[in-house]
Amino acid sequence: MKRILVTGGAGFIGSNFIHYILKGYFNIELLVNLDLVTYAGNLENLSSVEGDSRYIFVKGDVRDRKLVQKLFSEYEFDTVVHFAAESHVDRSVVEPEIFLTTNIIGTQTLLDVAKSYWKIEPDNKYSREFKSGVKYLQVSTDEVYGALGTTGMFTELTPLSPNSPYSASKAGADMIVRAYHETYGLPVNITRCSNNYGPYQFPEKLIPLMIHNCLENRPLPVYGDGMQVRDWLYVEDHCSAICAVLERGTAGEVYNIGGNNEKANIQIVRLLLHSLGKGEELITYVKDRPGHDRRYAIDNSKITSQLGWKPAYSFEQGMEQTIRWYLDHQKWMERVTSGAYQSYYQRMYGK
Ligand code: NAD
Ligand code: DAU
Repeated sequence: MKRILVTGGAGFIGSNFIHYILKGYFNIELLVNLDLVTYAGNLENLSSVEGDSRYIFVKGDVRDRKLVQKLFSEYEFDTVVHFAAESHVDRSVVEPEIFLTTNIIGTQTLLDVAKSYWKIEPDNKYSREFKSGVKYLQVSTDEVYGALGTTGMFTELTPLSPNSPYSASKAGADMIVRAYHETYGLPVNITRCSNNYGPYQFPEKLIPLMIHNCLENRPLPVYGDGMQVRDWLYVEDHCSAICAVLERGTAGEVYNIGGNNEKANIQIVRLLLHSLGKGEELITYVKDRPGHDRRYAIDNSKITSQLGWKPAYSFEQGMEQTIRWYLDHQKWMERVTSGAYQSYYQRMYGK
């Protein structure tokens, strides 16, 4: 039975993960969700688990060392799954600084507190012994590897070559995680997943943004020529992969996660238009994102062969479920796109 600290659980993947594990896919005694509830966090995503006696929500910052220490001493976690981050590339282009503090300092704070609580002799700098069964899992991204040309895939041995302030901050965090394993022996894993899609994704990201605009008959802003390629994975498959790594991952190892679903952005946009019964006249090509990575593709052979994980959803099933979810949750979409979202949209896309 795990006592688990999940950070960023009010966000897109974190909330899906909490739903997934509380459904019984993982043996949980206690789950504390530490989330600052930034623009990207939404407690409405978790309303159905509020009454679960295993679940505790704490509003707070992963950079707040005193708070993180207090939570460790109160709840005696044996597992940390660190999702909390600034996660949107376009925002990192205009406001890089918060990406560095949240994504790098936040990670180091969690690692450091976990090290001092889990180390058997915390004051002995040469000791590398930790309590049994403890693990820190860093939720990273395929973007740390940079961009691919028309061929090839990212393996865990691909050199890190991040291109945006977002991916550079995630790569920096990965390096700190690695250092805590190499220097102190902290039992860690890093997962690097490709693009996720599914319920509860904030409509600053491609798929929910395009669905929202389609439903409002607004232009669909496709960056550049729309031929950039992303490798899509249904969010629940990311959650099951994280559980596989928590249970069976070898300490210190990195695991790539992906489902072999490479699609050009324009293909995704056309699929959404078609599924929602809208015409292609809504497509509007706009100026490209600065430093835009051309193609991502994940080689998932390590996690499939070593940990026996495989995705449960085909791209077609995942997309059908996702589109259905947004159609059934238009009130959710209305709420998250009111207020600050409007000025964000204006700032990013103009009229
Ligand atoms: P998100 O932006 O939807 O959610 C981030 C969450 O973190 C929000 O709930 C926010 O309130 C919280 N948060 C932000 N700053 C915080 C702080 N200082 N302290 C505590 N909480 C804070 O992000 P997401 O898309 O769910 O991504 C989650 C993680 O997965 C991120 O680390 C991201 O890099 C990684 N990832 C995302 C994808 C993807 O396709 N979305 C793919 C691979 C990896
Ligand atoms: O690969 C994993 C990464 O996927 C995660 O680490 C990030 O947190 C997540 O945001 C995502 O990054 P991307 O930049 O790939 O996702 P985004 O949804 O922002 O964009 C997907 C593609 O669509 C990208 O090529 C840019 C393009 N795009 C995006 C938006 C928002 C457009 O053409 N128009 C848009 O309006």
